[in-house]
Amino acid sequence: MSHTVLNVETSPLGDYSVSRKLSAKVLAELKEKYVETQIVTRDLTTSPLPHLSGLTVGAFFTPPEQRNEAQIEALKLSDELVDELFAADIVVIGAPMWNFGIPSSLKAWIDHIARAGRTFKYGANGPESLLPPGKKVFITSSRGGVYTSGPMEVMDHQESYLKAVLGFIGLHDVTFIRAEGVAKGEDAVKNAMETADGQLKKAIKLIA
Ligand SMILES: Cc1cc2nc3c(=O)[nH]c(=O)nc-3n(C[C@H](O)[C@H](O)[C@H](O)COP(=O)(O)O)c2cc1C
Repeated sequence: MSHTVLNVETSPLGDYSVSRKLSAKVLAELKEKYVETQIVTRDLTTSPLPHLSGLTVGAFFTPPEQRNEAQIEALKLSDELVDELFAADIVVIGAPMWNFGIPSSLKAWIDHIARAGRTFKYGANGPESLLPPGKKVFITSSRGGVYTSGPMEVMDHQESYLKAVLGFIGLHDVTFIRAEGVAKGEDAVKNAMETADGQLKKAIKLIA
């Protein structure tokens, strides 16, 4: 069976990026697990997305049959990004922690794919996600400090935010492959990568 993987990358650090190294490992494992794997890459550092304009936001909230030419044109990029998400069986997101949250490049992607009427809607009982169930998400998370325990735990607005917003649109099956404490020297990086490797092997074994 063929699997389509959407890979969203956000670190500008190229070969020095920890999250990119982790994503590359996830993709390699997936390629090994599934004979036919088609990878669609969105590198938000080489092809950054624009922040939402007034025209685009206006188009989001205009019923499709009432949109004018300019609004239809303004929605093309967001529609393309949402279509990529619908087409993906697995999503791999490289997510460094920046200032306790995510890089603004990744936030811009989220602003384009969290779409009322396409990926969520408000029903009689509140918000409902519109992405079909069954998609798997791997988030390759890298951070200089340690946030899984200790005094800095409350400052994690990176993983907690991603889990919340992805769940909101229907992506509930989220696995974090995490290297943390990478600012604490070479040994710390080595240990963090080994821990992440263990998380990855375990997670890959668990998926069908
Ligand atoms: C602009 C910027 C902001 C950062 N903010 C934080 C932070 O708030 N907390 C933290 O633990 N590390 C922070 N770091 C360190 C990164 O999370 C760490 O270097 C991580 O490996 C970055 O991912 P990457 O190697 O894939 O680029 C920051 C790094 C940069 C460049």
